[in-house]
Amino acid sequence: MKQGRILSGVQPTGNLHLGNYLGAINNFVLLQKNYECLFMLANLHAITVKHDPKVLQANIIDTTAAFLASGIDPQKNSIFIQSEVSAHAELAWIFNCVARIGWLNRMTQFKEKAGSNKEKASVGLFTYPVLMAADILLYKATHVPVGDDQKQHLELCRDIAMKFNNDFNNENFFQMPEPIIPEGISRVMSLRNGTQKMSKSDESDLSRINLTDDSDLIIKKIQKAKTDSEPISININEENNRPEAKNLINIFSALKNQKPIKTLEEWDGKQFSEFKKALAEVLVDKICPIGKQIVKLKTDIKFLENILQDGRKKAEIIAEKNLKEIKSIVGI
Ligand code: TYM
Repeated sequence: MKQGRILSGVQPTGNLHLGNYLGAINNFVLLQKNYECLFMLANLHAITVKHDPKVLQANIIDTTAAFLASGIDPQKNSIFIQSEVSAHAELAWIFNCVARIGWLNRMTQFKEKAGSNKEKASVGLFTYPVLMAADILLYKATHVPVGDDQKQHLELCRDIAMKFNNDFNNENFFQMPEPIIPEGISRVMSLRNGTQKMSKSDESDLSRINLTDDSDLIIKKIQKAKTDSEPISININEENNRPEAKNLINIFSALKNQKPIKTLEEWDGKQFSEFKKALAEVLVDKICPIGKQIVKLKTDIKFLENILQDGRKKAEIIAEKNLKEIKSIVGI
């Protein structure tokens, strides 16, 4: 008996990194045992900013390979391309008419991504969280595993669900989906600046560990990772001026599957130069086998395309049934 239905998505916009892995994909792998899962390649989200069409296509295959290499079982779960289930775009339009402009004006990710010139940002980037709500509610997902940066979008999704239920006098139509955010490592920060999240769009490749980095590159990136001159201290979490140090401790703890306090007890008083060697070792152990498997899987593109076909078929059955019901409630 499954504990509920999961929907989550990742934008196919380039190499997946340690933030995507620890914030989301690792949780997908753990949750697949007890939930019915739909994992989506969010290409409609990826076109809200300038992109290269050919690269976007290629990234779909890379991301699918990364899902499988990380341990997602394509037999038990649906892995599919968002744009191939047209109900996502249709429901997003209906929700555009439910969501309020004031709600979207509060979205911090739009402010960050649009930067100082928000007049020039695409309308799609502004209404992006509405599409995300459509992704989730189209499947009536009960749980949504995401990193901390998506939390506000999940709250908006719940607001839309609630307003829809109220507006159409259908109190229990949408249940409120629950976010599942990893404890301790909900936001992996950049290796070059502990106040910024690790991101695909950071210009410096040294700021992130990609799932396809080889062992030499991982060791180099960790050696070069920013820290401070102080040794590790058990009280690091009370020290507000050590974001880089905390980030490395949190990454190490997540990879070892232990609480940060245990890591701090083990390493209290020791130097970061020594800690970095141990961190690089656990990273190489965890990430390199995934990278190698990605390369191997990409030698059989047909196999990956078939998985996406199967995933689409499974997703479409649920999506079409629910969209039909939603349209009838709205009167269209
Ligand atoms: P995206 O593609 O930016 O990221 C995919 C997942 O990785 C998580 N993540 C992180 N977690 C911790 N630390 C980081 N530095 C870090 N960077 C990324 C994200 O939180 C996310 O879980 N809008 C979504 C994709 C999406 C979606 C959805 C997710 C579209 N529709 C419906 C859930 C449900 C996004 O852009 O993720």
